[in-house]
Amino acid sequence: MAKPPLSMKPTGWFQVAWSDEVAVGAVHTMKYFDQEMIAWRAEGGQLTVMNAYCEHLGAHLGHGGTVVGEVLQCPFHGWQWNGEGRNVCIPYEDRPNRGRRIKTYPVVERNDSVYIWHDLQDREPYFEAPDVFADFADGSSAAGYYPQQRLFRQGLEMHPQYVLENGVDFAHFKYVHQTPIVPVFTRHDFDAPVSFVDFTITFEGDDAQSIEDINSGVEAINGGLGIAVTKSWGMIDNRTISAITPVDESTSDVRFMVYIGRPQGDSAARNPERAAAKAAEFGQEVIRQFSQDVHIWAHQRYSDPPALASSEHQGFTAIRNWAKQFYPDGRGGSAAELATHS
Ligand code: FES
Ligand SMILES: [Fe+2]
Repeated sequence: MAKPPLSMKPTGWFQVAWSDEVAVGAVHTMKYFDQEMIAWRAEGGQLTVMNAYCEHLGAHLGHGGTVVGEVLQCPFHGWQWNGEGRNVCIPYEDRPNRGRRIKTYPVVERNDSVYIWHDLQDREPYFEAPDVFADFADGSSAAGYYPQQRLFRQGLEMHPQYVLENGVDFAHFKYVHQTPIVPVFTRHDFDAPVSFVDFTITFEGDDAQSIEDINSGVEAINGGLGIAVTKSWGMIDNRTISAITPVDESTSDVRFMVYIGRPQGDSAARNPERAAAKAAEFGQEVIRQFSQDVHIWAHQRYSDPPALASSEHQGFTAIRNWAKQFYPDGRGGSAAELATHS
């Protein structure tokens, strides 16, 4: 058991739910970044994520709060709160309390996920949450893929940065994922909050092949520390989203999503059930591979400074320097966040 030394309150976009967990009129309860939170969907479809406690006398709005049209009504004394967290009605007074506000979070729904912007300094979002289709600018969309397959693991003792470090860690593929040869990175772009990593990789053949002969790979886009999307090429068409969200000072929730491309061609058209079953099977295989990483991450102790091989130096230095920008003190630490935030 190893509590991460990196701050568990980084800035950025983080997944807190899936869209289908918050139907119209529903109130969904969750805890992230040490805060009790709720997500609720108004009759008109608008989704709000806010802190869970009513500003009146502190009822938890996730336990009995009800959606009434476009507002959320507290179960305790019937005060109503809108999607900006503002009180709009005290049922036994002429006017609402205009001063008090429940903290709300910038929220986007994308790729069936609910992402919130978390920032201890309450700055507006300054980069976008990645989109597993649009951001690859290749004309792809969900219509070309089977429905998303999911993995959800809660309360693991791991930090979002561990997952991103996979993007420079060429050596682990052979040992964790049993690839026949070590992959080669072809792009490491850590210039901005959204970073890019491409690598050539194969899961087929034996260790006699040369990396120059491999015609398959993965492109990854990391939207901060919380969300990474990938696109494969030269193998069964798949897209993935990994999303790691801190729950408290020691643990994170892990969500992983896979889309498998719908096959073109006659045999798939003749036997759509078989094609769908094969896609489901392949999706499970991708999830199984990700689970192999999770098994390491969930028991890992963050090593700083690590004992790097010389070939690992450049990549790990680049990604760890990039990661620092998301931490409250700009270094990865969490001491400062206590001073600047109550
Ligand atoms: S505690 Fe919510 S209305 Fe009183
Ligand atoms: Fe991995």
